[in-house]
Amino acid sequence: MWLVVVLAALGARGAGGAAGAGAGGACGVAELACRSGRCVAPDAYCDGRQQCGDGSDEPPGCSPCNRTYYGLVGRGYELALGAAPRLPFLCHLTFTAGGGALGDLLQLGIEQFRVGRYMGAEADGAGGAGGGAGGAGGECPDGYVQLAELGRPFTGGSWCGEAAGPALYYSETATVTLSLRLYRQSAAKPLALKLRYRYLSARSAVVRLGGAGGEGAGGAAALERGAVAPGTYCTRTFDECHRRACRVQSPNYPGLYPRNVTCYWALRQRAVPACKHAMLQVRQDHAHKVQIKRSIAMASVNKTGRAVAAWRECTPERDRLIVYDGGSTDDPVLLTYCGGDWLPPVTSRGPDMLLAFHSSPYSAPPRAAPPLAPLRGFELDVAVVFADSDSLEYAREPRRCEFHVKATSPGDEEAAGGAAGAGVPGARGRARAAGGHPRAAAHAAAQHHLHLDLPRPTR
Ligand SMILES: *[C@@H]1O[C@H](CO)[C@@H](O)[C@H](O)[C@H]1NC(C)=O
Ligand SMILES: *[C@@H]1O[C@H](CO)[C@@H](O)[C@H](O)[C@H]1NC(C)=O
Ligand SMILES: *[C@@H]1O[C@H](CO)[C@@H](O)[C@H](O)[C@H]1NC(C)=O
Repeated sequence: MWLVVVLAALGARGAGGAAGAGAGGACGVAELACRSGRCVAPDAYCDGRQQCGDGSDEPPGCSPCNRTYYGLVGRGYELALGAAPRLPFLCHLTFTAGGGALGDLLQLGIEQFRVGRYMGAEADGAGGAGGGAGGAGGECPDGYVQLAELGRPFTGGSWCGEAAGPALYYSETATVTLSLRLYRQSAAKPLALKLRYRYLSARSAVVRLGGAGGEGAGGAAALERGAVAPGTYCTRTFDECHRRACRVQSPNYPGLYPRNVTCYWALRQRAVPACKHAMLQVRQDHAHKVQIKRSIAMASVNKTGRAVAAWRECTPERDRLIVYDGGSTDDPVLLTYCGGDWLPPVTSRGPDMLLAFHSSPYSAPPRAAPPLAPLRGFELDVAVVFADSDSLEYAREPRRCEFHVKATSPGDEEAAGGAAGAGVPGARGRARAAGGHPRAAAHAAAQHHLHLDLPRPTR
């Protein structure tokens, strides 16, 4: 019985990318062939309901696992796993965007997620409306879910535990495999995984790629995301960002980013007009475009003020972004950032900047309280700042320019969760704050009612 279905599906696949049902009764790749020859939706298989009418979509002892799912662009499909029938339970779900009418990318919505327990490494103080997402860097003792994309290295990161709210994942490539492993299951909280997925055409992925109807200053132009370096998951290089709208995006933006991932983004400016000095700047003013895990709980602390978690607050288990003042990780750190409502402008001293992003190996999927959107990751705008070569707007020598910034406004630390601009809590000796760029530093300070004690630049 099984065989018939599998063979029928294979046959249909062999017939090519034709998505719809042929007149002769052969079903498309994005359809399930019933024994009777009828074609039904691919997610009809083993969903607990009779769609074929002859029972061939619900064979006894069936499982939606270990199958490949295609679909038509513009249609939504569902897939659910209930309590595991036996342990250990291993299940692979492969989603493939077949191109054209079968889409280029996958949008995978996690509607319900209960996979064992998540043991946090640390208690999350910021309970917040969402109940907190649990500590980062914990472990998954009972089992976990992993995502892998064909053509990208496997990151090895895992999700486990329970999530109430939805999460969205957008693939970077055409094929995604979700693997679930469960070793222990409690009777009170058995396995529950409910997915809602759809295939998208690259043309419609404007938030990630820009293009027609693209938002912001980029207008209709495609966004420059840099090419992925071979053999890496998300390391990219950005050159000459004065020409294009460069955007540094978290992997799988605008959705959940993978676990245990490390990305390096190198920004370089080589074309510099005569008598000018180039500096690079990254920033993001919009809260909905800087969502690092657990920034959601922070955002609810003060609706009017803006909060930034940086420096000391970025404990090793937290997902974090590190900005280096130069092209390598040996260069001075401008900012260690692990979430907030915005990213204040961070400017390098020269024409090179390196950003490093690390996510923790284990995590419970973030749960946003219903009015909040699912976690989206982040996108940073890149700007090239040209200063006159003889101006005072940049530091010419690495050692000469150290600003010591002191927070003198009472209550600022508590209100903003120890926030206040780039580099303040890290302070002394580190506070090349907004990048040896006095104007940017003063701007960041003004936002936070700080008193800045700036030595006058000397020539
Ligand atoms: C899926 O395939 C794996 C082998 O790759 C097997 O161990 C597992 O039991 C299968 N799962 C189900 C539910 O059939
Ligand atoms: C996380 O990635 C590193 C390499 O970047 C790897 O050595 C490590 O084993 C991974 N961790 C897990 C839990 O897979
Ligand atoms: C929120 O932050 C703003 C600006 O920092 C401050 O004026 C306001 O009092 C804060 N509100 C609450 C409820 O803490």
